Amino acid sequence: MLYPVIWQNNAVSLIDQTRLPHEYNIVTIHRSEDMALAIKSMIVRGAPAIGVAAAYGMYLGAREIEAKNHQEFLEKLEKVAQLLRSTRPTAVNLFWAIGRMMKTAYESLGTLEEIKHHLWQTAQAINAEDLQTCQAIGDHGLAALPTTPQKLTILTHCNAGALATAGYGTALGVVRSAWREERLQRVFADETRPRLQGAKLTAWECVQEGIPVTVVTDGMAAHCMKQGLIDAVVVGADRIAANGDTANKIGTYSVAIAAQAHHIPFFVAAPLSTVDFTLADGSNIPIEERDSVEIYQVGQSMITPSGVDFYNPAFDVTPAELITAIITENGAFPPADLVKLKFY
Ligand code: MRU
Repeated sequence: MLYPVIWQNNAVSLIDQTRLPHEYNIVTIHRSEDMALAIKSMIVRGAPAIGVAAAYGMYLGAREIEAKNHQEFLEKLEKVAQLLRSTRPTAVNLFWAIGRMMKTAYESLGTLEEIKHHLWQTAQAINAEDLQTCQAIGDHGLAALPTTPQKLTILTHCNAGALATAGYGTALGVVRSAWREERLQRVFADETRPRLQGAKLTAWECVQEGIPVTVVTDGMAAHCMKQGLIDAVVVGADRIAANGDTANKIGTYSVAIAAQAHHIPFFVAAPLSTVDFTLADGSNIPIEERDSVEIYQVGQSMITPSGVDFYNPAFDVTPAELITAIITENGAFPPADLVKLKFY
């Protein structure tokens, strides 16, 4: 099993996702500032993995704090939280995990050393829970998939795999469960321009497990559907509004439109920590815009003429009406039923 974020030797080990698939490097993080940089530069990426990394980042910051009392400790910890929150705006798991760490800090009693230990325990719990959650998502997703054909070909976009979570994955968790139960024929992995998480990371994860995978460029997805090559689409999410509108990697919306046009079920697989019940719909989900170099440079080469403008939104929002079901650790639900989970 692949774990992108591991606590070991009093530090955090991250698989450097900017170097895969050709180099497998581990980056060791000792300080919260370095964790913020690792999240911003996408050494660690994927909504749940960012949440786990940020939780450890909070602990790394906390353990360096010297304070005369609990209040001063909280004020200094809030600065660590602000730095980590400023790294990436769309994945709500980042804010959720930092919020949970701050809650632990506020509610903990005892000496500062004891409070710091509670923070470490909370970070460990967030990591362990996410792994269990992904396994539950995988199994609920398997039950929600179409019953025919017996062996399904699933298209996915970006990487919502073990690398994007504590392990196992959300969308790729469903794929893993289907593979285990011999219900999977093949994965079609959209390349996912501009950062190529599909071509690099999803394809790599599938190869590691012996899962047959076909990489296609993003523009090929609709054509593959029309040819009858795709039985279901399963993607992850970075933030889901209360009505089920879902922000995920740029290009997901186009895939959802194509899936509806071809009567192919379109599933979103995500933990409840990705649901933002404070947003009624997707219109106010903050969309990260990244550096245009991601578009104009491929490898070391500039591919566009000079004198053009760029627009590089990293995410888009798929309207709830295009989503067949949202697969969570509590089961698979039509988007309209999501709001009922608020009370669990
Ligand atoms: O920019 P990234 O690589 O962090 O974007 C990742 C995605 O969009 C994933 O699909 C999403 O975070 C779900 S990960 C389980």
